Amino acid sequence: MVVAVSERAPREPKYYLVKRHLLDIIGSLPPGSLVPTERILTLELGTSRTTVRRALSELVGEGRLVRRQGSGTYVAEPKISWPLRMTSFTEQAAEAGYTVTTQLLDARRQRADEEAATRLDVKVGASVFVIERLRLVNGAAMAVELSQLPAARFPGLVAKLRREPSLYRVLAESYDSAPVEADETIETAAASPRKAELLDTDTGAPMLVLSRHSFDASGAPIEWVRSWYRGDRYTFVARLTAR
Ligand code: GLP
Repeated sequence: MVVAVSERAPREPKYYLVKRHLLDIIGSLPPGSLVPTERILTLELGTSRTTVRRALSELVGEGRLVRRQGSGTYVAEPKISWPLRMTSFTEQAAEAGYTVTTQLLDARRQRADEEAATRLDVKVGASVFVIERLRLVNGAAMAVELSQLPAARFPGLVAKLRREPSLYRVLAESYDSAPVEADETIETAAASPRKAELLDTDTGAPMLVLSRHSFDASGAPIEWVRSWYRGDRYTFVARLTAR
C-alpha cells in the first residue's frame, strides 16, 4: 500500500536553518579548519546564542565538528570505517594498519544473573568471568568492551589475558575455542560519565553500542560482550550478500 504524504514541507526549527548553513560552510572546508565562534555566528546570522549553540552541538555529536577546550571548534576528520567481521579487534586493527593497545580495566568472577545465564547457557548463579577492557588504536581510545564468558569452560582465563591481550587468540590457542559465528546488534546510547571519561568525550555524547553473542563450532555460546564506541568517530560497515 502506498500512503500519500502531505506536500507541505515540515516547519524547520530555527536552529536547524543554522545547522544547514553550517553544513554548507563545513562542506567547503578541509578537516582541521577553524569554524567561526558562537559569538560571530550569532552576530552574522542575527539569531540567539542558544540557537547557534544547539546547531553546533548537534554537529559535534554527529562527528562533523570537533570542539577543542579553550581553542575553538574545527571541521572534524572523516570517520573511521570499521567493517563488522567475525575477527578479533586486535587482528582487525592490525590488518587496517593501526597500532592496537588494550588496557585491562577489570577482570573478575561473578555469579551469572538471568541475562548472562541465558546468553552463556549456564545456570543462574554459575560463575562467569566479567572482563572490561579499553581498546585504543594509534593511542586514541576507540571502545570500551565488557565481555562475559563461562568460567568453568575457561579455567585460568584472567591470568592468560594479563599476558596476551587478544581474547580470541587466548580462546583459540589455550582452549581450542575460536568463536566462529555471532549475532551482533547495534544500538545508540548516551555516554555515562565513566564511559565519557574513558573515551575522552562528554557525558551524554552519542555512543554506538555493539552487542555480540558468539558461538564456537559446536554452536555453544562462548562470549556475551557489549562494546561502546564513540558515535562521532566510527562508521560500521557490513557486507551483505544475496544467497
Ligand atoms: C571484537 C568483538 C568482541 C571481541 C573482541 C576480541 O572487538 N566485538 O566481541 O571480544 O573483538 O578481540 P581481541 O581478540 O583483540 O581481544
